[in-house]
Amino acid sequence: MADLEKRTLGRTGMDVTVLGYGAMELRGVPRGREVSEEDAGRILNTVLDLGINYIDTSIDYGVSEERIGRHIAHRRGEYFLASKCGCLVGWEPEPGRDRGGPHVYTKENVVAGVEQSLRRMNTDYMDLLQVHMTPSRQVLEESGTIETMQELQAQGKVRFIGMSGTIPNLADHIDMGVFDAFQIPYSASQREHEDLVGAAAAAGSGTIIRGGAARGAPSGEERTAGRNPELLDVWEQAQMDELLEEGQSRMEFVIRFTQTHPGMHTNIVGTINPEHLRQNLEASLKGNLPDDVYEEAKRRLAEAGTAPA
Ligand SMILES: NC(=O)c1ccc[n+]([C@@H]2O[C@H](COP(=O)([O-])OP(=O)(O)OC[C@H]3O[C@@H](n4cnc5c(N)ncnc54)[C@H](OP(=O)(O)O)[C@@H]3O)[C@@H](O)[C@H]2O)c1
Repeated sequence: MADLEKRTLGRTGMDVTVLGYGAMELRGVPRGREVSEEDAGRILNTVLDLGINYIDTSIDYGVSEERIGRHIAHRRGEYFLASKCGCLVGWEPEPGRDRGGPHVYTKENVVAGVEQSLRRMNTDYMDLLQVHMTPSRQVLEESGTIETMQELQAQGKVRFIGMSGTIPNLADHIDMGVFDAFQIPYSASQREHEDLVGAAAAAGSGTIIRGGAARGAPSGEERTAGRNPELLDVWEQAQMDELLEEGQSRMEFVIRFTQTHPGMHTNIVGTINPEHLRQNLEASLKGNLPDDVYEEAKRRLAEAGTAPA
C-alpha cells in the first residue's frame, strides 16, 4: 500500500500523516462505548501498522491514555503523541452521566495532569500538550498556564505547546503567538472555523482537525447519539451526491474535503473498528479533491447554510 501523505505540523517541524488517530473512542464506559482491552490493543497497533503517525488523547478520555501506554508504548518512536491539560486531575465521571469534568488551568493542576499523563502513557515525554476546552486569554493569563507549559517544555516533558480552540476565543489564541499548534473542529457540515484553520496555519502553527469525518455520519450507518446528523441534512440540501465520482462513498468525500483545506495538517479521525480505519486510510490515500470539485462543494455547502463564520 502507498504511504500516507505527510504534512509539516507548522513550526513544530513534525511531519505528520494527513490522517491521524483520535483515541477518544478508546475511553470506554461510562462516557463512551464498551471497548475490550484486546480490541483497544488491536486498533492501536493497526493504526501504527498502517503508517499513521499521530495520536491524540486526553486526560479526560477515560482509560484512553492507559491503553496507549499498555499497548503501544513499546513502539513510542513510531508516533507523535498529543494529550491535553487543564482537565481536573482526580475527577471521575458520575456513573450514568455523560458529562465532562471541570477544567482548572493553574500550575498545580497542569503539572499534576502532565505527570499523570506521562505515567499513564508509559513515556517520559509528549510531543504536544494542548490546553483543553478553549479557555479565554484572560483565564490563561490569570492562571499562568502558558508559563507552566513552557516550564514543562524546558524540562523536556513536553516538546511543543498547543490549544484545542474554538470560536469565540480561537482568534485571540492565534494572536497570542505562543501556540505551536491548534486543534480545531472542521468538516463539510461544520465550516465555522474554516478561515481560522487557514489563519492558524498562516501564522506558522500546526493544525489538527477534529470532527473531520463528521463522527461517521456520512457512512449512512445507523445514527447513534454520537453521530453528526446535521451533515446528512446539509448533504441532501446541497445535493452533494451529484459531486460523487462513480463508486465514491460519502465518507470518502467528506474525509477528502477536510484534507483538501490548504491549511490543514492532520485529521484525527477516531474509530474502534479496524474496517473503518482501513476505509478512512483508503479515502485519505486518494488525496485532495480536484480543485473544481472542491470549489463547487464549498459553493453548494454555503448555499445550504454552512459557511465560514
Ligand atoms: N475538545 C477537544 O479537544 C476534543 C473534542 C472532541 C474530540 N477530540 C479529539 O478528536 C478526535 C476525533 O473526534 P470527533 O469528535 O471528531 O469524532 P470522529 O473521530 O469524527 O468520529 C468518531 C466516530 O466516527 C465513526 N467512524 C469513524 N470512521 C468511520 C467510518 N469509516 N465509517 C463509519 N463510521 C466511522 C466512529 O465509529 P466506529 O468506532 O464504529 O468506527 C466514531 O463513532 C477524538 O478522538 C479526540 O481525540 C477533541
